[in-house]
Amino acid sequence: MKRLTLQIGIALSGIALLFSGCNQGGGSATNGALSSSAAEKVYVAPGEQDAYYAFLSGGYSGNLTVYGLPSGRMFKEIPVFSQFPTSGYGYSEETKPLLNTSHGFIPWDDLHHPDISQTNGELDGRWIFVNGNNTPRIARVSLSTFETEEIIEVPNSAGNHSSSFITENTEYVVAGTRFSVPVPQRDMPISEYKGNFKGALTFIAVEPEHGHMDIKFQVIMPGFNYDLSHPGRGKSHGWFFFSTYNTEEASTLLEVNASQNDKDFIAAINWQKIEEYVNNGGGTKVPANYAHNIYDESRHMATSTMKNEVLTVDPTDVPGAVYLLPTPKSPHGCDVDPSGQYIIGSGKLSADITVHSFDKMLAAIEGKQFDGEAYGIPILKFDEVLAGVVKSGGLGPLHTEFDGNGNAYTTFFISSEVVKWQLGTWEVIDRKPTFYSVGHLMIPGGNSRKPFGKYVVAMNKITKDRYLPTGPEMEHSAQIYDISGEKMELLYDFPTHGEPHYAAGCPAELLKPNSKKIYRLDENNHPYGIKSPAEARVERDGKDVHIYLSTIRSHFTPDNIEGVKVGDRVYFHVTNHEQDFDVPHGFAHIGANTSEILVMPGQTKTIVWEPKQVGVWPFYCTDFCSALHQEMQGYIRVSPAGSNMELAWSMGE
Ligand code: CUA
Repeated sequence: MKRLTLQIGIALSGIALLFSGCNQGGGSATNGALSSSAAEKVYVAPGEQDAYYAFLSGGYSGNLTVYGLPSGRMFKEIPVFSQFPTSGYGYSEETKPLLNTSHGFIPWDDLHHPDISQTNGELDGRWIFVNGNNTPRIARVSLSTFETEEIIEVPNSAGNHSSSFITENTEYVVAGTRFSVPVPQRDMPISEYKGNFKGALTFIAVEPEHGHMDIKFQVIMPGFNYDLSHPGRGKSHGWFFFSTYNTEEASTLLEVNASQNDKDFIAAINWQKIEEYVNNGGGTKVPANYAHNIYDESRHMATSTMKNEVLTVDPTDVPGAVYLLPTPKSPHGCDVDPSGQYIIGSGKLSADITVHSFDKMLAAIEGKQFDGEAYGIPILKFDEVLAGVVKSGGLGPLHTEFDGNGNAYTTFFISSEVVKWQLGTWEVIDRKPTFYSVGHLMIPGGNSRKPFGKYVVAMNKITKDRYLPTGPEMEHSAQIYDISGEKMELLYDFPTHGEPHYAAGCPAELLKPNSKKIYRLDENNHPYGIKSPAEARVERDGKDVHIYLSTIRSHFTPDNIEGVKVGDRVYFHVTNHEQDFDVPHGFAHIGANTSEILVMPGQTKTIVWEPKQVGVWPFYCTDFCSALHQEMQGYIRVSPAGSNMELAWSMGE
């Protein structure tokens, strides 16, 4: 307790020093990264394009943002867990099912860790997986359409944080619980946490062709907090590593009570062994409610299915599958180098970085070098698995990425810096300050067997004076460093959206040729889609009115509609009949209790309107699609509830 207070004291004085340091230098052209060489390195001239894509998590925005590197320009926000009125995601009838959960419709989450799909340990650019932290979910986003295609809820989990990381052939996307909870959930005293709450580590199988997710098994671990994870790769393929804290199993005042043990653990899971066990009929099916939501690109529509059981595995039933590696000072980041040999545990209350050796771990298991057990899981002797310690000279290490040239880069939250060090010698090579309080960092491919070690992006938690102030709230800030030389060079600051936690990046050429340009009309199988404006019509089915609406530059078909009554439920099924790249049409309607919808070429989207007032009400296109965009409008006449007006529709009459 006393030591902890002292550490926090050191930490705070470190932060104070940094801030005073920046105030002296901030804004000075001679002191900033404004030399012409730095400017040239991030300058992407008009008409030229960036060399890398970067996908930054949006944290509490619930969404994923797409940037170019080295320019730091934001290209797109991809809605995943949050409703997004800009496109109608989560508002349109087609996308609402994606946000369904066992708790009902949840239009928000806290998105933390993107990971791009891999083949043979290298980025393959097919999908990017992200986690919803709050109501545990994993989403799969297509890197062809840059749209969310699938969301699966994770039962028996809470604070889905050691997620969403994939194995090196995308066999599994893995999700680990941050908060342990009663499994199955039940009414019980919180004071009985210790020994009774459990931590579920979920292995979600990814179908290789279409990427569809399905929970294969959950390993039901002791009630620790599972903070971050990374897959083994190369020689350690088949294993997965999870950092833990709160091995004290405290349920209150964790800032003190979860820092009592000098060492927590990195849990090493031999998932191939467990996979074999469950394939041979092992494990226990338990009741669990969770939603599985899939967007069908051909039907332009999502469906939600409720699942009601999940296969659980008690780790003590599979001897040799799970071990605990003691790791000092409440480890946060848990990163694996490109060779798969080193497992890096960053004790967030420490100055040092602990590196475990995969080879030594196997030898220690073989030689039964155990230091007791926790709930029947063997604890390996610390000295028998330790590869080395990086005496960093920094404070508060969090996350590590790799450049593929034998170097590692670790962020230090408390001392606000990125430290470059060498794998194997554990020597510190370089350090550069970040502004301020860096969390994650990202090297494109830095979490794979083949990193592209040209740039590192540091994602900072505090912005302060880096930009013009915008009231009490500032966007977070990222910084890009050139790491192609011996020393890192700070090139550029750029604001980010929401709160970026982790990010993933890849060469532009991996995605650019596959980026979808249009949806083909002849492949549009939406049940309310129409193949041409000639099929546009209005149909009544009791109180439901279905408007099959066509959009093409620069008119709606039909654009005059009569015979709708107060009390009806009006479905606008809008099909965009363009077959040209980058020509969406929007649709918005006065008094609609929803957002606009932005409809891509060849796509169909639906919003629902329940008219409450008699009158003649306009609708219009919200996307400036042509010189006659302002003319792209229409009227719908609403008659009293008891009116005998017949349905009628027209265009150009
Ligand atoms: Cu269509 Cu503006």
